Amino acid sequence: MRRQALIAAAAGAGLLGYATVIERNWFALRRFEVPVLPSGARPLRVLHISDAHLTPGRHRLLSFIRSLDALQPDLVVNTGDSIAHPDAVLPFLEALGPLLDRPGVFVYGSNDLYSPKPKNPARYLWRDSTLHPSRTHPDLPWAELGASMEAAGWLDANNRRGRIKAGELDIEVAGVHDSHIHRDRYDEIARQADPSADLRLGVLHSPEPEVMDRFAADGYDLLLAGHTHGGQVCLPRVGALVTNCGIEPERASGLHRHPAHDDDPKRPWLHVSAGLGTSPWAPFRLACRPEASLLTLVPRDRG
Ligand SMILES: [Fe+2]
Repeated sequence: MRRQALIAAAAGAGLLGYATVIERNWFALRRFEVPVLPSGARPLRVLHISDAHLTPGRHRLLSFIRSLDALQPDLVVNTGDSIAHPDAVLPFLEALGPLLDRPGVFVYGSNDLYSPKPKNPARYLWRDSTLHPSRTHPDLPWAELGASMEAAGWLDANNRRGRIKAGELDIEVAGVHDSHIHRDRYDEIARQADPSADLRLGVLHSPEPEVMDRFAADGYDLLLAGHTHGGQVCLPRVGALVTNCGIEPERASGLHRHPAHDDDPKRPWLHVSAGLGTSPWAPFRLACRPEASLLTLVPRDRG
């Protein structure tokens, strides 16, 4: 009996070591083709990054982000939770490097505003991480982060709309701040999306179904979100167990439609990034590698 307990403890320690040291640093680039453009349009390469949760010293994460410019994306979308430490802004911006010279869009996640607090790491698995009501004053340099991305020319889409040119396309963009901490204000951006744009893009940190319903009703073609970490701890063949928000585990990451079950051929495509990092207080990923995604948008009639 004692021998079995020792074997089980050793296996558990080995699994934790793998999830913390190896898989957490085993970055993947996911590629998807999304048939969402008008007939005849040239493909558009969109790099979607999310949830870096950067702390100083994460050299492998920084070098993976540095490598992404080589993909030559036409547009970069950052769906938030970029930082997890007061000193992370500069390293994050330096890692983005030439990506900042490309057209870009960003929204914030709660972790850009509030520093991570120690908690039971297993908490991730059984309850959501809605901010404690006592924390109302952001203590991370989210404004400095946002101002730097905006100064580089990226569109701040936190409860804002905008128009950008990427590749040869005229793109209408709207986004919301993080609904997970009740900072989303969809009413401020609510309006039927412009049918004359080549693409209508909605951006949000947390893929909350009620918020995505509103983007869908306003005629958006493509929604990009993060926040879920793809479940972070997944079971092989089963996938995510939790999403930390209202979306179901089946759509915790990857390319789907919204709503999930609907016959409307015009309903938006949804890409949820499993993200690049984790909270420093839950530093593991299991069967859910950290990732960035390259979405190649192509004409609808090629899909
Ligand atoms: Fe996150």
